[in-house]
Amino acid sequence: MKVLTFLNEKGGVGKTTLATTIGAGLAIMGYRVLLVDADPQGHMTISFDFKKHHSLYDLLVRDAEFNDPGIVQPIPPQSYALPNAKLPDSSRLYMVRGNRETRLISQALEGEPFIIQRRMAELEEEDIVDFVIFDTSPTPSTFHALIYLATDHIIYPTEVTYLSFDGLVQSIKHTTDYSKKRSQEGFGDIKLTGIIPTKFRSKTLEHREKLKSLHKGFGDLVWNPLPMSVVWEEAMSRKMSIFSYAYDHPAAADAWKIVRTAKEKILNV
Ligand SMILES: Nc1ncnc2c1ncn2[C@@H]1O[C@H](COP(=O)(O)OP(=O)(O)OP(=O)(O)O)[C@@H](O)[C@H]1O
Ligand SMILES: [Mg+2]
Repeated sequence: MKVLTFLNEKGGVGKTTLATTIGAGLAIMGYRVLLVDADPQGHMTISFDFKKHHSLYDLLVRDAEFNDPGIVQPIPPQSYALPNAKLPDSSRLYMVRGNRETRLISQALEGEPFIIQRRMAELEEEDIVDFVIFDTSPTPSTFHALIYLATDHIIYPTEVTYLSFDGLVQSIKHTTDYSKKRSQEGFGDIKLTGIIPTKFRSKTLEHREKLKSLHKGFGDLVWNPLPMSVVWEEAMSRKMSIFSYAYDHPAAADAWKIVRTAKEKILNV
């Protein structure tokens, strides 16, 4: 089981969009995926039309079991799968939902920095999923630290703008600090798996120049950019993945490339 976290301390850069898209794509490929909405905004939760209850707070603070009713919520295939295509029998997409209580978690669990790591180890033992994908809030918090300590791979979505780059640099610094801590406890480094430039406009000189500077600073860590398209907003507001909403749109082809890259980089296949 691999734990993957989406992070950028700048808001609105595409964390939720990419976390759900990569989760949906891996599930379509036949993997068992658990999405975890770790943002008090609960945007991942509402992007699949779920109510914001039975949340991560229940799992971590109220000690709910993974198989308690409502905790691990199956996402219906019509919300994420390709229309009219049969999913592999092994495919699963689940969600642990998020809500405002999420912001109280770190306070309630002071002195238990490895609580999420421990719950992830339990999940791995039960062999329920292949990937766990955390969507995080843009506001740095002590709660983020609990997530970092449970994370194997981090992906940083970023817009190609000055302020997003600042969020990116801050996020990488925090991850690196916690990677050392995680290593010292014997859980291995957090791998910086990729930086995904989002909402890219290739005809805009400023975007092309910012992309160049991103490559200069981070080299191979930078993946191909995800172009700007209103279809992403449309899919989200219809509570569907890009694959179920617009499978024949170029944005879905862009999304597939990102899902394949994620799979290759995380599984080394
Ligand atoms: N490639 C894209 N082109 C156009 N719009 C996009 C693209 N990717 C994401 N969006 C839109 O941008 C908005 C912000 O995206 P998203 O919610 O994924 O960002 P976020 O980083 O999770 O935000 P927050 O920091 O508030 O959690 C959404 O309305 C989404 O539909
Ligand atoms: Mg978000």
